[in-house]
Amino acid sequence: MDSTRIIQLSDCHVSATADAVYRGINPRSELEKLLAVMSDWQPDLLLLTGDLAEDGSREAYEYLEDRLAGLDVPVHTLPGNHDNHQLQSAVFASTAVDEALQISAGAWMLLLLNSSRPKMIAGKLDPAQLDSVEAALAAHPGPAMVFLHHQPVPVGSSWIDRYALQSAGRFWSVLDRHEQVKVVAWGHVHQGFEAGRGCVKLLSAPSSAINSLPGKEKFTPDQAGPACRWFVAHADGELESGVLRA
Ligand SMILES: [Fe+2]
Repeated sequence: MDSTRIIQLSDCHVSATADAVYRGINPRSELEKLLAVMSDWQPDLLLLTGDLAEDGSREAYEYLEDRLAGLDVPVHTLPGNHDNHQLQSAVFASTAVDEALQISAGAWMLLLLNSSRPKMIAGKLDPAQLDSVEAALAAHPGPAMVFLHHQPVPVGSSWIDRYALQSAGRFWSVLDRHEQVKVVAWGHVHQGFEAGRGCVKLLSAPSSAINSLPGKEKFTPDQAGPACRWFVAHADGELESGVLRA
């Protein structure tokens, strides 16, 4: 395969019941608007980067699993602060829990991390998780992307930057030793974000439920609607990415 087409879907915030409301919208209805666009884009695989469920219920994960099965591609997930990782991993077998989850995508390695901690809104990566990142990168010299829920750099929105990844310096000290890391991508911030750190692209996926306008002190609804991020990872290490909207 010359390239791999990846969709990063994030912050779906669905609940056990179909009529549950989240920040004034119905997360299931918003996701439905995106599904057809995602299908038309023809991904090879799908990554869910946290806050799959608003209520951490089994029913929420089963609903997602059922709706995403229509895309007929492998689905890999990591938890966010709203998730219950036991129930999430019971429904989605390929879920990052204690160690980095390694996924092969052509020449690329995707590493999915679990930055969620019980009863914490902010994120944290424990030493075992970071050790597994170090080991995976040392063993795989090819191009790599790293995914987690919490932002490891501020995105410029104080309402969510107060709940960023804690002790991010330890995370960067591991990645900085491995120049094959081309991308670090996250969810959590409910807005698209793009920046760089040396040769590393820093990218967020917007929410499939509801997003905020960037650069705000308080969550300020973005009327542009639900969205997700896409990547095309080429065999030669080149990468394209953008935002897909319903
Ligand atoms: Fe979220």
